[in-house]
Amino acid sequence: MNREIKTIANGLLAVTVTLLLVPAAFAAGPQSVESSGTAWGTGAFRSNGERLYFTATSERGKAITYTSGPASGGWMMMEGRLACVSCHGPNGQGGKHSMGMMQVMDAKDIRWSALQDEFDAEKFRLAVVKGQDPDGTQLKQDMPRWNISNDDLDDLISFLKTLP
Ligand code: HEC
Repeated sequence: MNREIKTIANGLLAVTVTLLLVPAAFAAGPQSVESSGTAWGTGAFRSNGERLYFTATSERGKAITYTSGPASGGWMMMEGRLACVSCHGPNGQGGKHSMGMMQVMDAKDIRWSALQDEFDAEKFRLAVVKGQDPDGTQLKQDMPRWNISNDDLDDLISFLKTLP
């Protein structure tokens, strides 16, 4: 084969491979992203717990929904789109958020290292799902009540344990 033909042949091969791979990549995408509106590629997160924390979607195929949550200022716009990270921050340490109308929301530090004295897996579940604090009081409405499976909660705890 002379040089020119070889180059063309290689070019054609590259195009063919690309055409074959692109649909395969789509087919191999996430099984279900439901209403989360975003498709997360395989490997985008190091663990399902990390994914849950940042996106409120799970590898198990269901978006994690919630009720309650802050109902003032710009937060209303976030309806259906909040994840733990929105309030507790990328490092899990929480902090104060302004909600407009002079209201301030104070999200707690939920790194496992900060929770572990007060919480175990069951108490964590009660707080996240029912807004029940270990001391018997109800958490403020600013903390949404989450519709999340026990398996996903376990993954979240594993992720919170990785936060320094
Ligand atoms: C819209 C903001 C918001 C989002 C989103 C949110 N939280 Fe919270 N969370 C809070 C606030 C505010 C508190 C403190 C409530 C209080 O002081 O009564 C809190 C408290 C908690 C507590 C109790 C901590 C303690 O020391 O008592 C846990 C556990 C917790 N959140 C876990 C989560 C998890 C897990 C997610 C994601 C599935 C999440 N939160 C998403 C705002 C939020």
